[in-house]
Amino acid sequence: MVNTDLIIIGAGPGGYRAAGHAAQHGLKVVIFESAQVGGTCLNEGCIPTKSMARNAEIVQTLKESDLFGLDNLSYNFNFQQVIARKNEVLMQLRSGIDTLLSHPNVTLVKADAQFKDAKTIVAAGEEYTADNIIVATGSVSKSLRLKEPASRPVLDSADLLSIDHLPKSLCIIGAGVIGMEFASIFSAFGTEVTVVEFLKECLPALDSDIAKRLRKVLEKRGVKFCLQCGVTAITSDGVTFADKKGKEQTVQAEEVLMAVGRAPRVFDHFQNAGFEYDARTGIKVDENFETTVKGVYAIGDVNSRMMLAHAAEMQGIHVVNHILGHDDGIDLSIMPAAIFTNPEAACVGKTEDQLKAEGVEYECRKAFHRANGKALAMNEAEGMLKLLSEPGAGRILGCHAFGAHSADLVQEASSLMCRQTTVAQLRDMVHIHPTLSEILLTAAES
Ligand code: NAI
Repeated sequence: MVNTDLIIIGAGPGGYRAAGHAAQHGLKVVIFESAQVGGTCLNEGCIPTKSMARNAEIVQTLKESDLFGLDNLSYNFNFQQVIARKNEVLMQLRSGIDTLLSHPNVTLVKADAQFKDAKTIVAAGEEYTADNIIVATGSVSKSLRLKEPASRPVLDSADLLSIDHLPKSLCIIGAGVIGMEFASIFSAFGTEVTVVEFLKECLPALDSDIAKRLRKVLEKRGVKFCLQCGVTAITSDGVTFADKKGKEQTVQAEEVLMAVGRAPRVFDHFQNAGFEYDARTGIKVDENFETTVKGVYAIGDVNSRMMLAHAAEMQGIHVVNHILGHDDGIDLSIMPAAIFTNPEAACVGKTEDQLKAEGVEYECRKAFHRANGKALAMNEAEGMLKLLSEPGAGRILGCHAFGAHSADLVQEASSLMCRQTTVAQLRDMVHIHPTLSEILLTAAES
């Protein structure tokens, strides 16, 4: 029997950051991981897609090379090198996590961990006990429930990230974050991409104006969107769906990607701990991410609050602070997010649609990449930023953008929101010229 201060199940961003933070503050930690360290984010999510997105960005730039004075450029596109470079990046980052977990206060156990009771975990035949346990088991890809099971292989995002050939055509089911990122990447690589989405616009969580503009950019680059289309069958002929008029259509494609969301990864052995959970909404937690059993916490995708790596990390840090009795100023209600399409999109706070629905009075200011010197110099004229605030240039309520480096622009707005900064105060802040950051300032001044 091993007794420790804190047990963590899962070494994804939530788990390993919590382990590092707890160890730095003197807690003895045992962290269990049955697969590679890094979780979905590092092994089959954020990082591999961002590595491939960088390749896609370069290919996209090469397609416009004549604009930069490179006439008649010819090159061979080696897809195997895209995968090899991505794997290199992952290896390097995994070794960084290994270093973090090599802290003398941390023991990493590479084994499947199961609850025996609310204070005891069994792994590889050994029992481990602690007063505090954090569950950080992540999520899994969801699949559509069709009348007939798919009669051909259907890939999920992890499969597509390790595919050994570049498909000639790809049908993506779902125009959410995963669907849109892969549509952008593979269409840049030359794959013929069709996206089939149930709703009337892509990226339903994004400001609808921004989502529409982003879709139009991808359409111009050759991505075909079938919106308001419900998939009815996946067969060797392709993906069959009913379009908005109810007419049945079939998209033929060499590969099919299922990107209709993710579900919390829950296990039957959770019952031994006695906390409330279900397969759809994950583990029930309170504002400190404590489950219905005292001393057992759940962070990241498994609690379904916000399926974002940075949300998991900050939840983990907050849980450790809570265990230590330390107050912190972490405000998880302000949660920026980005979609790494080309051009990228990002958001924080309320959308205009939400403010309207809630009957909140607001002001909306816009600024465009095409009016920004740095964006034009970069040949990145496509883009827009929307700043929403209380009336009278008051506190920022939301910021939504698409275009080059939107994530960085929205991050500034997010930080300002954390400090309740007003638009009037933002106008007084000096921004470097010429930078894309001036787009936020221009919006504030408009
Ligand atoms: P999602 O929830 O973002 O989008 C799923 C899409 O599938 C929705 O647009 C939905 O309307 C559509 N859909 C559902 N049923 C359908 C049907 N029968 N036919 C056609 N379309 C259908 O889920 P996604 O993209 O799989 O991402 C999963 C999670 O991973 C999200 O929570 C996302 O935030 C996270 N993630 C975050 C990233 C980032 O921060 N950059 C990158 C990738 C994923």
